[in-house]
Amino acid sequence: MNNILVLDYGSQYAQLIVRRVREANVYCELLPWDAPAADALALNPRGFILSGGPNSVYDPGAPTLPRYVIDSGLPVLGICYGMQLLTHTLGGRVAGSDRHEYGPAELILDDPDNELFHGWRDDDQPSQIWMSHGDKVEALPPGFHAVAHTSSSPYAAAADPARRYYAVQFHPEVAHTPRGRVLLSNFVHRICGCAPDWTPANFIDEQTAAIREQVGDGRVVLGLSGGLDSSVAAALIHRAVGDQLTCIFVDTGMMRAGEALEVVRAFEQEQGIHLVAVNAVEEYLEALAGVTDPEAKRKVIGEKFVRIFEREARRLGHIDFLAQGTIYADVIESAGKGREARLIKTHHNVGGLPADMSFKLVEPLRPLFKDEVRRIGLALGLPERIIWRQPFPGPGLAVRCLGEVTWARLERLRQADAIFIEELRRADLLRQGTQQAFAVLLPVRSVGVMGDYRTYKEVVALRAITTEDFMTADWARLPYDLLAEVSRRIVNEVEGVNRVVLDITSKPPGTIEWE
Ligand code: XMP
Repeated sequence: MNNILVLDYGSQYAQLIVRRVREANVYCELLPWDAPAADALALNPRGFILSGGPNSVYDPGAPTLPRYVIDSGLPVLGICYGMQLLTHTLGGRVAGSDRHEYGPAELILDDPDNELFHGWRDDDQPSQIWMSHGDKVEALPPGFHAVAHTSSSPYAAAADPARRYYAVQFHPEVAHTPRGRVLLSNFVHRICGCAPDWTPANFIDEQTAAIREQVGDGRVVLGLSGGLDSSVAAALIHRAVGDQLTCIFVDTGMMRAGEALEVVRAFEQEQGIHLVAVNAVEEYLEALAGVTDPEAKRKVIGEKFVRIFEREARRLGHIDFLAQGTIYADVIESAGKGREARLIKTHHNVGGLPADMSFKLVEPLRPLFKDEVRRIGLALGLPERIIWRQPFPGPGLAVRCLGEVTWARLERLRQADAIFIEELRRADLLRQGTQQAFAVLLPVRSVGVMGDYRTYKEVVALRAITTEDFMTADWARLPYDLLAEVSRRIVNEVEGVNRVVLDITSKPPGTIEWE
């Protein structure tokens, strides 16, 4: 009942609106502007936010304001295109324009007592806002008055408080509008009357109840990879249904140093979760023998995982539910590709289970963003080392061990990687200095000299990146002294390696992984 619905009109910032509202501890979801009314109203929203979008309200076939929004009598906040749409629909006038206003502007309040701007001026942040629009409002609809302006927009914000309609031409959801959070929080708390009760503790309580209701006395199986999403899903479902949950962990041999043991320790020993740990190292190495093509490696590993998971799940006897750590990004990704959104997500992101293994899905993390999954994980008491684990590709070290994957080469890579991570941690650079860092073993040998001997050994590349979303990334500017120490230690301590190089490629054009 305490929900906000954001209607997506195609703005690149639409998801950010959702995040900002949730940061104000109010549950919020994003739906396309033309989603069926029944889907939208099923969320029981207490208010609507209309996102920005690339259209002009005068474009043929331009997105419109759904009837149910106005009919509901609930508060509405229109942002950018959303403002123009409200204006256009409610009888104001929008001026078409070929010119785009893009960038920062100074906001001047005309109605400082307006609810939407409560506390705006007490904040010591600059009153800067971020504009990105072509068309603009020329005349407000009846009932509205101007709330704020800028040097180029007489109606940068407007309101009809009697009907609880609010509109801003700028983008309160982006970081370039430093006080934007205040505005969004005012809308959801003060105007819509939502209580700030969407907290990790409440989410856990609600989901625990929902999982119990869904599962009843059925049995649940979950593929645990040790990554953040499957770990948090396991801990949450375990809290709900205890021993009705069995986790299957497949040790592929492609994990980093100490990781396989750590998973067993964290889940079986610390959380008391029923865990089937399968040592499949030999099986994987056999399947990978002679395979050097990156896509072939991924395929072998993905298929093997599905077969092993299937075998182990069948051994458990009758299972009713398959639990997965699917999160919001996975949902959007699958929907965006035009595929059926409720896909089986194995932790290797490939393949699927055979048709005769028809489980129902349990996916308690589906609505969450990555940082929210972390907050839930912390509230569930998972150890920091799992909460802050860097992303790790499903195929694991196989795609960082370029060329043929053998046990000796994997061990070499594991040792080099562990040294790199240890030095980064010592320098306190693991969370802030880089979002992902790892070693890559190259299928190249080079000449070196050690004492009086000439050596001919393999090369390790160091990869460390900074990124916000892993879609684009820059190479991390790590201190030279740290790099020197990592290089010295790898060449001295890792048998079979005599040279270390640094990857200084950004993404694009490079990718983060090498294969
Ligand atoms: P790239 O190399 O495409 O990587 O720039 C972007 C992010 O995705 C991770 N990655 C994978 N994750 N299965 C995964 O689950 C994979 O096959 C895979 N390949 C890359 C990569 O580590 C980085 O964080």
